[in-house]
Amino acid sequence: MSSLAIVGSQWGDEGKGKIIDYLAGKADMVIRAQGGSNAGHTVVINGRKYALHLIPSGVLNGNTVNIIGNGVVFDPESFFAELELLEKDGVTTDNIYLSDRAHLVFPYHKTLDELYENARGIGDIGTTKRGIGPAYMDKIERTGIRVCDMLDEAGFRKKIERQIEAKNRLIAGVFGGEALEGEKIVKLYLEYARRLAPRVRDTGVMVYEAMSAGRKILFEGAQGSMLDIDLGTYPYVTSSHPVSGGFTTGAGVGAGLIRDVVGITKAYTTRVGKGPFVTELLNETGDRIREIGHEYGATTGRPRRCGWFDGLVVRYSARISGITGLALTLLDVLSGFDDLYLCESYDYHGERIDHFPASLDVVSECAPVFRKLPGWRTDISGCAVYEDLPANAKAYVNAVEEITGVPVKIVSVGPDRKQTIIREEVF
Ligand code: GDP
Ligand code: IMO
Ligand code: MG
Repeated sequence: MSSLAIVGSQWGDEGKGKIIDYLAGKADMVIRAQGGSNAGHTVVINGRKYALHLIPSGVLNGNTVNIIGNGVVFDPESFFAELELLEKDGVTTDNIYLSDRAHLVFPYHKTLDELYENARGIGDIGTTKRGIGPAYMDKIERTGIRVCDMLDEAGFRKKIERQIEAKNRLIAGVFGGEALEGEKIVKLYLEYARRLAPRVRDTGVMVYEAMSAGRKILFEGAQGSMLDIDLGTYPYVTSSHPVSGGFTTGAGVGAGLIRDVVGITKAYTTRVGKGPFVTELLNETGDRIREIGHEYGATTGRPRRCGWFDGLVVRYSARISGITGLALTLLDVLSGFDDLYLCESYDYHGERIDHFPASLDVVSECAPVFRKLPGWRTDISGCAVYEDLPANAKAYVNAVEEITGVPVKIVSVGPDRKQTIIREEVF
């Protein structure tokens, strides 16, 4: 397998960063293709923790080419903050490239993200306030400003000025907010342009040429299928395509070229932000999972909502992303529970539901139908091979496979690179 797509199969934060970093040891190229600095991908190497937002998780391997693709909404402020942290740690960063077709995030996008959320009141989405929705709105409305626009100073200045004027009309005129200082933003972005220019490429060509030469390529998903703008729990979603299809438009790669897809899947379920969550545990068990799993957002620090494994969600993700194998992560967090529960189907007023419904009114009235399994007592975080796992942990893995219909090829038993069990090579 010379190319592999990695997708989140739940609501994000499944441990994509950890698995990508692990696999990136063998990769020539790692590509981010959607989302922006709303992502928070944690990588732990020998106890040292890195949280990556825009920079692909391959960067910590030193040898990979890291690409921020055209489908990403790129926030220079977040990028340079991240870059600085990595460079301080001695990480090589000159192998990071940025697509000339990527759209830019501006300060007014972040201001508007906040204003739109406030205006939604109790119906808010719970966004990361990183300006993601408003930046994609501009892209779809066809008023966005792209990285290639940065390369012509006079043209870039004009485009920004026009946008600031329009956004200030909205911010101050409609929302009664404080208008942004135009010249300050223009100056800042002209400086960003100068610093970014050496990294700007037609990255689609780079990816195509690497694929044609048989190089090993990893596509790094951000968010998770259930946050997909088309296929997720709309409107409680992000504004991009975290499903595997997002890689074709977001990296500029023909659909037929992405065959193998690994779904990163937490051994239980979490979500940050609002929206229905059938297996949510609003009790001590949920709190216990949150504390053991350190389930607090890598981007916003918000406590994550926790619940049992939802098989419908992962089965649905497997179908819509063409997932060929799962990496089951955070299995160690479930050690010590007497009983464990996996949701096999939903009960909707007495009717059995096997496929994740579109209507959130329906979802919010569904009750989980669980398979109950006995837990295991031993700490599994030191297990290096599958055979080392206790029988009940293996039975849990088997149940995940049965319920989702997808083989579990990787099992993760801790945050560190080393705490990874490979059952079947995926890359
Ligand atoms: P991502 O957004 O999918 O990359 O996931 P995040 O980094 O936001 O959240 C996953 C969290 O779980 C991070 O704190 C990781 O360090 C941690 N993690 C990843 N895999 C494991 C694992 O197998 N066990 C434990 N205990 N933690 C893990
Ligand atoms: P990674 O890549 C978890 C959620 C937000 C909110 C919704 C919309 O780390 O898995 P947005 O700021 O995108 O407009 O917010 O999407 N969200 C994530 N949840 N992990 C993420 O990324 C997320 N990125 C966005 O919490 O509910
Ligand atoms: Mg995350």
